[in-house]
Amino acid sequence: MAKNLIIYYSRKGENYWNGSIKSIAKGNTERIAEFVQKAVGGDLFEVDTVKPYSASYMTCIDEAKKELREDARPEIKAYPNNIGDYDTIFVGYPNWWGTLPMCMFTLLEKLDLKGKTVIPFCTNEGSGMGSSERDLKKLCVGATVKNGLSVHGAEAENSESKVSAWAKKSI
Ligand SMILES: Cc1cc2nc3c(=O)[nH]c(=O)nc-3n(C[C@H](O)[C@H](O)[C@H](O)COP(=O)(O)O)c2cc1C
Repeated sequence: MAKNLIIYYSRKGENYWNGSIKSIAKGNTERIAEFVQKAVGGDLFEVDTVKPYSASYMTCIDEAKKELREDARPEIKAYPNNIGDYDTIFVGYPNWWGTLPMCMFTLLEKLDLKGKTVIPFCTNEGSGMGSSERDLKKLCVGATVKNGLSVHGAEAENSESKVSAWAKKSI
């Protein structure tokens, strides 16, 4: 059976958490990515930017807003080089200003996803998937983008059974 690839971006450091700012050692989206891997198997690929986003929540908010406004494509450190080995690709990200962080645009525009099944998951503080699924359909040219899973970031740690059931049903 073809393997799954689980691509995600997740930011450690200060984050907005149930109405206040808290520093987290492991990103919310990373937790979900690990639950997906545990449920359905596959390889994890973490997206990392050449220029790190600030660990300060308020600074990062501004950085991300500027990138979105400028439709930027921030450089990333690496791309998966064996995308042809996978049919199903889970794509995980935090909701940033209503869509995916722009570094995910950088990545997804470069990958050849023709004929692949893309399954999104998104952590957020209340905006759900925002316009990310619509944006994914434009970015993942030739792929089938399935309905995604939205997880409240502050509940990521305790969401294993929900994530596991969804991931198994999605493939
Ligand atoms: C730059 C930035 C922008 C954000 N914008 C939104 C937003 O528009 N809507 C929302 O619900 N949450 C927003 N959040 C909260 C994150 O989506 C949420 O905390 C998420 O779980 C973080 O995931 P991570 O720990 O994997 O990076 C934002 C967070 C950051 C840092």
